[in-house]
Amino acid sequence: MSTNIAVAGGTGLVGAMVVEEVRRAGATPVVIARSRGIDLTTGAGLAEALGGVDAVIDASNVDTLRAKRSVAFFEAATGRLLAAGVAAGVRHHVALSIVGCDRVDLPYYLGKRRQEELVVTGPVPWSVLRATQFHEFAGQLVERSPRPFAMALRMRTQPVAAREVAAALVTAALGEPGGRLPDLGGPRPEDLGRMVRATVRARGSRRIVVPVPMAGRAGRQVTEGGLLPGAGATLGQVTFDDWLAGV
Ligand SMILES: NC(=O)c1ccc[n+]([C@@H]2O[C@H](COP(=O)([O-])OP(=O)(O)OC[C@H]3O[C@@H](n4cnc5c(N)ncnc54)[C@H](OP(=O)(O)O)[C@@H]3O)[C@@H](O)[C@H]2O)c1
Repeated sequence: MSTNIAVAGGTGLVGAMVVEEVRRAGATPVVIARSRGIDLTTGAGLAEALGGVDAVIDASNVDTLRAKRSVAFFEAATGRLLAAGVAAGVRHHVALSIVGCDRVDLPYYLGKRRQEELVVTGPVPWSVLRATQFHEFAGQLVERSPRPFAMALRMRTQPVAAREVAAALVTAALGEPGGRLPDLGGPRPEDLGRMVRATVRARGSRRIVVPVPMAGRAGRQVTEGGLLPGAGATLGQVTFDDWLAGV
């Protein structure tokens, strides 16, 4: 009998890749997203979706930089997923988190901390995979910048291909619950500002690139390497430049 893996946020940037990787592994994906009629924050449709599911990969997200919205989303979504998961007999909950979310005081990260806390203390055997920023993160920043600008945030990061993160999540889900897994980062550190400039150039976009320093405590924490993967991390193969060149 095929293994059923639910992918919360399975229509999102990394979630859609997770769905492809689930299929590639010979398992059956169950996509959880509002556009599929399932809402993580209200729980609508969740119990039905998790019927017969062996493992859940949570790659859902909320589009905000604000602490309050981030905490509210991850608390509600994670709480609903875990409660429905234990009721459905899910044997493994795999959450995608962010390297350094406990070291860097960005408001959005308060939601990720709450998500991790609920998973770690929750009723379903779990794994948490923390990944660094995706190569696509630079493009997401461009799209979220007010036209005609592209905000080139000066941030030290060690970006990873979302595809490699998706594959690692599926490998984790098919295995035994492993607790906190080694951090997953890319092959080398980069400046996010350079990644934004390179993304704008590669797209042939006319956006005006504006360097934006990271201010305050979070800025200092990032400058000190707070978002870089620690010792013992797993490092992906694909560099940002190779990814951008479509290699
Ligand atoms: N971007 C990065 O660089 C990065 C790096 C490391 C880790 N992460 C983590 O990776 C995760 C995914 O990020 P992403 O950028 O791939 O996300 P994304 O592209 O914004 O996708 C979000 C997904 O969540 C779903 N969703 C949102 N609200 C929902 C709700 N109420 N009920 C059900 N589904 C809902 C969306 O589908 P609908 O809109 O149809 O509901 C969509 O499938 C996040 O937890 C993030 O913290 C991101």
